Amino acid sequence: MTPAAPLIRAQGLHKRFDGQVVLRGVDLDVMPGEVLAIVGRSGAGKSVLLKNLIGLSQPDSGAVLVAGEDLHRARGRRLSRLRERFGMLFQGGALFDSLSVADNVAFPLREKTRQSHGQIAEVVTEVLKSVGLQGMDDKFPAELSGGMRKRAALARALAHRPEIMLFDEPTTGLDPIMVRAIHRLIADTQQRFQYTAVVVSHEVPGIFEIASRVAMLHEGALLEVATPDAFQASANPVVQQFIAGRLEGPLTPT
Ligand SMILES: Nc1ncnc2c1ncn2[C@@H]1O[C@H](COP(=O)(O)OP(=O)(O)OP(=O)(O)O)[C@@H](O)[C@H]1O
Ligand SMILES: [Mg+2]
Repeated sequence: MTPAAPLIRAQGLHKRFDGQVVLRGVDLDVMPGEVLAIVGRSGAGKSVLLKNLIGLSQPDSGAVLVAGEDLHRARGRRLSRLRERFGMLFQGGALFDSLSVADNVAFPLREKTRQSHGQIAEVVTEVLKSVGLQGMDDKFPAELSGGMRKRAALARALAHRPEIMLFDEPTTGLDPIMVRAIHRLIADTQQRFQYTAVVVSHEVPGIFEIASRVAMLHEGALLEVATPDAFQASANPVVQQFIAGRLEGPLTPT
């Protein structure tokens, strides 16, 4: 059997801002159906990498292929079609404060699809249920807890049934039980909607529970890409210090 082709292939991504090199040659294959976790220190460039994978930020050089198509060279309808394959949960959630939960979830469907009112209402009900927010339709973001806001943002990202979900720190600021609940929800919705996921996370080792592979971004490149078990057993002292959160070692606190 030939191995499956990657759904996303990043090749030699370079990105700098005003002379600061953030990515210096990132190569990464995301396989269909996997949950790939990206870890690394604050400021390592994880959010920049994610934005390059979805086409929100252009690399200075290198390419991102989505099912073999060059994302950063695509224009017009071709680009829209590639973008439609993605859903993204941004760092911070980013719900519209002035819209109810149901309207937040319905918003992208009203903007980007021709579904009828009735069809949209059905999708909204289904995705809210799948994230455990049934009956919360009329609440406003300000009335929700942090965990509920994350769920609502996940429901909104799932509404158009993306093939690929990108999560940027989906559990920041949540209590340990809620962190686990959100991880479980990612695993459950991934099974249910059959998406491929890339999850940037600081939850080490918690994120290993749901990841099929873990990639560590360090000094602008991927230092280690391995299954959670192999990652934890890595002989690399940088990986070991990072997992243990030790102050002593090759990584310095600043
Ligand atoms: N649009 C931008 N303009 C200038 N610099 C930027 C921009 N976006 C990111 N950077 C810089 O790139 C570096 C990496 O940022 P990034 O947000 O990707 O880090 P991160 O790994 O996601 O960190 P964290 O874990 O804290 O979210 C930072 O030094 C940041 O200041
Ligand atoms: Mg970030």
